[in-house]
Formats: sequence, structure tokens, C-alpha cells
Amino acid sequence: MSDQDNNTGKKPGFIRRVWTALWSPTSAWSLGTLLVGGFVAGILFWGSFHWALELTNTEKFCISCHSMERNFVEYQDTVHYNNHSGVRATCPDCHVPKEWQHKIKAKIMASKDVYHHLVGTINTEEKYQAHRLHMASLSWAKMKQSDSRECRNCHKFEYMDFTIQENRAAASHQTAIDEGKTCIDCHQGIAHKLPENYLDKYREVVDELAANGDIPLPEGKDVATAKSELRDHLSTN
Ligand code: HEC
Ligand code: HEC
Ligand code: HEC
Ligand code: HEC
Repeated sequence: MSDQDNNTGKKPGFIRRVWTALWSPTSAWSLGTLLVGGFVAGILFWGSFHWALELTNTEKFCISCHSMERNFVEYQDTVHYNNHSGVRATCPDCHVPKEWQHKIKAKIMASKDVYHHLVGTINTEEKYQAHRLHMASLSWAKMKQSDSRECRNCHKFEYMDFTIQENRAAASHQTAIDEGKTCIDCHQGIAHKLPENYLDKYREVVDELAANGDIPLPEGKDVATAKSELRDHLSTN
């Protein structure tokens, strides 16, 4: 039947028409060749894109700008650089999300660093110190908003043995679980020196996020209660 259809000059079936269109030369290349070629080029492009992304996710890359600017030197004195078990957290471990969608967003946002590097926003000690509280508050806002996601890539309350933690730590961590607090609420300055009055600024950051509805609230709590609890907590610590 179908042969007959073709022979009688009827239109060929849809699939056949697509197939012929794919492989008949358009100008010099058939559409099919272009598609296959595009696919291969896509893989190559993807590979190099991924490679570039990984390259910008190394400590070496971060320090190429941030060594002069203190961060690396200060962090070498902390437990995340040097400790009894030899497990280390590098700059991107704490500052760059692991999950693809969050990582891409962070990378795009970080392209502003290149601009600030070129115009020299933090290229002297004085400028760095003057700018530090602002930069720290950007980091806090990200961590508070993500429920300290990057810390939790390594640390989890579920696996902490409260019986071997010192009392203050164990008690605080129980409070943290009960009241939905997050690591950065209590652990600012774990890798870098803190600027003066950092706690006031931290509260400001949290208030602002809460007012915009940008922080995950503990279950069954409204913004006002969560805010006043956090305020109480911060002022007693
Ligand atoms: C091209 C130089 C350069 C590189 C490379 C670089 N930074 Fe920065 N970074 C800067 C400058 C300049 C600023 C100040 C930007 C501003 O004022 O907003 C900054 C700001 C920051 C801040 C402050 C908070 C914020 O969100 O702005 C953090 C955290 C940070 N960088 C971490 C990193 C990490 C982690 C890496 C490696 C993955 C890295 N930087 C790579 C130049 C650089
Ligand atoms: C790449 C894994 C990793 C990441 C990410 C990480 N940590 Fe750690 N953290 C460690 C290791 C390893 C130690 C040291 C454990 C030991 O004592 O050997 C540590 C120690 C600590 C300590 C104990 C400090 C002390 O003086 O004894 C605190 C508090 C802490 N981390 C908080 C955080 C917070 C908050 C974040 C997120 C901003 C974070 N960590 C991110 C791996 C990590
Ligand atoms: C309510 C405040 C609070 C919250 C929230 C909190 N901590 Fe702590 N944490 C403390 C206190 C207080 C200590 C004991 C003093 C210190 O080491 O700073 C402590 C100690 C630690 C230690 C050292 C324990 C030891 O025995 O050496 C680690 C590691 C740690 N915290 C990680 C975290 C991580 C990761 C998170 C988030 C998942 C977190 N903490 C959330 C208050 C808190
Ligand atoms: C263990 C987690 C951790 C590691 C590792 C870490 N940071 Fe940070 N970083 C933080 C936190 C938390 C803040 C927010 C300010 C604070 O609480 O000290 C911060 C703040 C910053 C800021 C803002 C300015 C300031 O001084 O507060 C810069 C820039 C920065 N980090 C760069 C780096 C670079 C570069 C490295 C690697 C050499 C690095 N960080 C390693 C957790 C970390």
C-alpha cells in the first residue's frame, strides 16, 4: 500500500518527510550532520565549561586575590586549617555551594569580585578593614539564608555525640535543634578575625532577612516569635 502511495505521487508519510529533510543537503551540510556536529560541540563546550568552573573552585584561585588581603593568613591559625585529624575545610568548602543550581548562582554573583579587584576596593590593609564588616555581613546573610548549608556538608547535628562534647556545646546544640537555630547564629568568626561590633551588625542582617521573609522559620513559629527568641539568645551569649 505505502509503496503504491509513493508511486502515485501522494505525499510521503510524516516520518519519511522528516527523515529526508534531515539528511538531504541544505546548502553544503545536511541538517542531520549539523545536529550531530552540534551535539559533539556541545559536549566539548560543556567539558571546558565544567573544567573552568572547577578551576575557579580551588583554594589556589581564591588566594590568588585573597592572600594579600589577610583571609588566608588568618585562617591558617584556625582549626579548619590545622587540627589533630588533618581534615581541612578550604575556602570554597565554606563559601561555594556544592549543589549545581546554587553553585552557578554563587559563581555569577561572585563575578562582581573581579570588578572590585580591578578597581582595588580592598587592595590595602586600611581599605580591607574599612570594608570588612560589610563583606562579613554579605557572607552571614548567605549562610543564614541557606541554614548554614555549607557547614552542614561536613557537620551534622545527627552525628554529633553530645556525650563527649563539652557541656556548653552540647547544651547549646540541643537548644539549636529545639529552636531551629543555625550554625552561623552562634559560630561567627570561626575562620577569620571579627570586626568590632560584629554582633550588632549580625542582628541587623538577621532582622532584615526576617522582615523580608527570607529565612526558613522553625516549624510552627511566626516571624515575630522567631525574631524575639533569636534576639534574646544573642544578647545572653
Ligand atoms: C579576582 C580576584 C578575586 C578572586 C579570584 C576571588 N575573590 Fe573574593 N573578593 C574579591 C574582592 C575584590 C572582594 C570585595 C568585593 C566587594 O566589595 O563586594 C571579594 C569578596 C569576597 C567575599 C566577601 C563576601 C561577598 O559575598 O562579597 C568572600 C566571602 C569571598 N570574596 C570569597 C572568595 C572565595 C571563596 C574565592 C574562591 C572561590 C574568591 N573569593 C575568589 C576578589 C577576589
Ligand atoms: C570541609 C568540611 C568542613 C566544613 C565545610 C566546615 N567545617 Fe567546621 N570543622 C571541620 C573539621 C575537620 C573540624 C576540626 C575537627 C577536629 O577537631 O579535628 C571542624 C571544627 C569546627 C568547630 C570546632 C572549633 C574549635 O575551635 O574546636 C566549629 C565550631 C566548626 N567547625 C563550625 C563550622 C561552621 C560554623 C562551618 C560553616 C561556616 C563549618 N564548621 C564548616 C570541617 C568542616
Ligand atoms: C545556640 C548556639 C549554637 C548553635 C546554633 C550551634 N552551636 Fe556549635 N557550639 C556552640 C557552643 C556555645 C559551643 C562551645 C564553645 C565553642 O566551641 O564555641 C559549640 C561548639 C561546637 C563545636 C565543637 C564541639 C567540640 O566538642 O569540640 C562544633 C564542631 C560545633 N559547635 C559545630 C556546630 C555546627 C556545625 C552547627 C550547625 C549545624 C552549630 N555548631 C550550631 C553553640 C552553638
Ligand atoms: C570554616 C569555614 C570557612 C573557611 C574555611 C573560610 N571562610 Fe571565609 N568566612 C567564613 C564565615 C563564617 C564568614 C563570615 C564572617 C565571620 O563570621 O568571620 C567569612 C567571611 C569571609 C570574607 C568576608 C570578610 C571577612 O573578613 O569577614 C572573606 C573575604 C572570606 N571569608 C574569604 C575567605 C577565603 C579567601 C578563605 C580561604 C583562604 C576562606 N574565607 C575560608 C567561613 C569560612
